[in-house]
Amino acid sequence: MTLDVDVLSDVATLNVDGRELELPLIEGSEGERAIDIQRLRAETGLVTYDPGYGNTGSCISDITFIDGDAGVLRYRGYPIEQLAQQSTFMETSYLILNGELPTQAQLSEFKDQITYHTLLHEDIRHMYRAFPLSAHPMAVTSAVVGALSTFYQDSLDPLDDDQVEVSTYRLLAKLPTIAACAHKYSIGQPFNYPQNDLDYAENILHMMFSTPTEAYDVNPTFARAIDVLLILHAEHEQNCSTSTMRMVGSSQANIYASASAAIMALWGPLHGGANQAVIEMLHDVADNEGSGKAFLERCKDRDDTTRLMGFGHRVYKNFDPRALILKEAADGVLRELGRSTQMLEIAQEIEAQALDDDYFVSRKLYPNVDFYSGIIYEALGIPIHTFTAFFALGRMPGWIAQWREQGKDPAARIGRPRQIYTGENERQFQPIEQR
Ligand code: ACO
Repeated sequence: MTLDVDVLSDVATLNVDGRELELPLIEGSEGERAIDIQRLRAETGLVTYDPGYGNTGSCISDITFIDGDAGVLRYRGYPIEQLAQQSTFMETSYLILNGELPTQAQLSEFKDQITYHTLLHEDIRHMYRAFPLSAHPMAVTSAVVGALSTFYQDSLDPLDDDQVEVSTYRLLAKLPTIAACAHKYSIGQPFNYPQNDLDYAENILHMMFSTPTEAYDVNPTFARAIDVLLILHAEHEQNCSTSTMRMVGSSQANIYASASAAIMALWGPLHGGANQAVIEMLHDVADNEGSGKAFLERCKDRDDTTRLMGFGHRVYKNFDPRALILKEAADGVLRELGRSTQMLEIAQEIEAQALDDDYFVSRKLYPNVDFYSGIIYEALGIPIHTFTAFFALGRMPGWIAQWREQGKDPAARIGRPRQIYTGENERQFQPIEQR
């Protein structure tokens, strides 16, 4: 079998089993190229084999561009560095969902829609009591998001633009309330109602931290730090949770069902759950390992399953640009708040040692978004088990935008990969007494 790519005629020619098949090449707006294999199986009987989909383009998308070798991330063409510095999470969410930055009037209308929907139905609040106090907030958040589909049965049709629009606002508006209630329930405190004169990040902090007994003034440094974290997490093209959102949505499951599944996918420690795993790892190094160097030896040992959490990425083979922003922000936030810098110092020491170690260098393993985010969350007083829920709050506009884009894509089909079967060939059933 041979595969020749002819750049000039924009085709790849596959020679297999004495047959020749011309496969079109397609090119994205940033010059990345792909072989379109949609006709492959019909014409040759062959499928491709690509565990983890590292070489598979599952869709065509206008939303996010990543150049993993150069450490570039852009939402709708805008560099992440500019958005983190100059935008707000609400404005960035509008951009991701609609493709353009909003005018002042459009942004006001968008924010009004979101604040209008922040309340949870009172009966949803009773759901929490069914969970053990020790329940992980990601499990609770996913369950409650899925349950929104039982409360908003008037807006479940993925093919109806108006229903999708109102569900978009509901998801963005209610997720902070849902996640904050999950946290409050886990510590036995009363739930807080959203306060709609606060902005998005302020409201999250109010619902997480205020109690009915004392006045709580949102610290603007905290609120801006949360807003930047949300911007940095807002969208990241076809990662595990976004692909889950699309996969579930591809069956025309409703948007709440799809988002509930995406939250579950994000929870895993190899994906968004890494932010919790990193801070646990740093504490473990501080308490038990003695030095970062000894810990790194374990990460490199093939007989040890320990990984350096917050390091490595499927796409970034250079610095994750979000990690660079967060490293600087962590330093600034800790100093501004006068908090202990011990975790940051351990993280910086581990990073420096890893980047000087052939194991990590040769595999192009750099810090990812999760390496420094937990240090900021911890400094802000966010409980460790709630870190990944904050990631979900940030990622919601990205999930929704990708789900909506798929819904409008004429080429979209139900997600249904093939497999290479390696099990038994046909055999005859033997009744149990003859086995
Ligand atoms: N620590 C130690 N070794 C690692 C690490 C790590 N964090 N990451 C990858 N490697 C090694 C692997 O053991 C493998 O080595 P080998 O070639 O000798 O077998 C090589 O690097 C390639 O690793 P893969 O697992 O094939 O890389 P993949 O692209 O499949 O995985 C992933 C990417 C899951 C992010 C991985 O780097 C990892 O587990 N990192 C730690 C968890 C983490 O931080 N996840 C968050 C990612 S960002 C996000 O999802 C929001």
